[in-house]
Amino acid sequence: MAVIAVALYTVLQVVQAQQPGPSAVGDFVAPVDVDTTGLPGPVQPIFYRHDIHAGQYQMNCLYCHYAAEVSSSPGLPSVDTCMGCHLLVGGSNPEVAKVREAFASGKPIEWVEVHRLPPFVHFPHMRHVNADIRCQECHGQVEEMPQVYQWASLKMGWCLSCHKQNNVTTDCTACHY
Ligand code: HEC
Ligand code: HEC
Ligand code: HEC
Ligand code: HEC
Ligand code: HEC
Repeated sequence: MAVIAVALYTVLQVVQAQQPGPSAVGDFVAPVDVDTTGLPGPVQPIFYRHDIHAGQYQMNCLYCHYAAEVSSSPGLPSVDTCMGCHLLVGGSNPEVAKVREAFASGKPIEWVEVHRLPPFVHFPHMRHVNADIRCQECHGQVEEMPQVYQWASLKMGWCLSCHKQNNVTTDCTACHY
């Protein structure tokens, strides 16, 4: 047990040391048990919890969503990213067992999409991240969510009001081809 604890501690330290950008939160502690009935957002195939990973353990968002700075779609981590820790961590937790099964079977986990803009909207995700807008301004306090939900309306008025505040273009063709 002590060996595993030390190994986990080392992994977490390495992960935190590698973190680019601002670190998430202070001394937030995720609840051990969560009543999932009535939680906002879609139910996922595995109960992956941002409040544990990004909140309590302060993992940087970009550790898993590493394409957020360079791509129009930040994308989701592959199961390999999870296994860096979950070969060791998570013991007999049944949800962690599902992660290991996915890894062993080689089948990707089919996460349910939370955000989706209509196809006629052009949204260069990386431009926003690189303009130093924090993830939380558009996604809310994800690091305290046991289950992710769409926090902002994603309506045109939402885009426009921030663009106006920041003197960014409101030209129709910037967002609609
Ligand atoms: C350990 C890996 C990991 C870390 C760290 C992480 N995420 Fe995630 N994120 C995931 C996984 C897996 C999903 C898909 C399952 C889900 O929606 O909960 C996801 C989903 C999301 C979604 C919804 C995607 C969609 O379908 O629209 C958003 C938004 C998001 N993460 C933002 C963040 C933010 C902001 C942070 C930092 C505060 C963060 N994530 C940290 C793994 C991670
Ligand atoms: C940097 C290490 C690390 C990475 C990477 C990581 N996890 Fe975890 N995960 C943890 C720790 C630490 C816990 C808490 C274990 C505990 O409390 O016993 C945990 C807990 C969990 C749990 C159990 C949650 C609960 O209800 O207690 C699940 C499910 C899980 N992780 C899924 C994932 C998935 C899916 C990924 C990849 C997208 C991932 N983890 C990536 C460290 C990590
Ligand atoms: C200016 C607002 C804004 C900021 C800042 C922002 N996002 Fe997003 N994000 C969005 C919108 C809007 C979508 C939906 C995009 C779509 O449907 O094409 C999205 C989609 C996502 C997705 C869904 C996965 C995918 O590929 O579609 C993830 C994960 C995500 N964001 C993570 C992050 C992380 C992590 C950060 C910070 C590093 C961040 N976002 C910063 C607005 C934002
Ligand atoms: C929280 C503030 C904020 C929100 C919300 C926001 N944006 Fe932006 N957006 C910016 C900033 C700041 C820039 C300028 C980035 C740069 O200079 O590269 C930008 C740039 C853009 C660009 C590039 C414009 C160009 O000059 O070519 C497009 C396209 C865009 N946003 C679309 C959207 C869409 C679509 C939405 C809503 C789904 C949205 N934005 C929501 C702040 C925001
Ligand atoms: C900063 C980005 C942005 C700009 C600039 C923008 N739009 Fe949009 N527009 C959106 C988004 C996001 C949606 C989808 C969400 C919604 O329907 O509100 C949308 C939706 C629409 C729709 C469909 C509405 C519906 O109910 O289906 C029309 C029509 C439209 N825009 C016209 C325009 C016109 C005309 C302009 C210029 C005056 C413009 N847009 C400028 C982001 C933008």
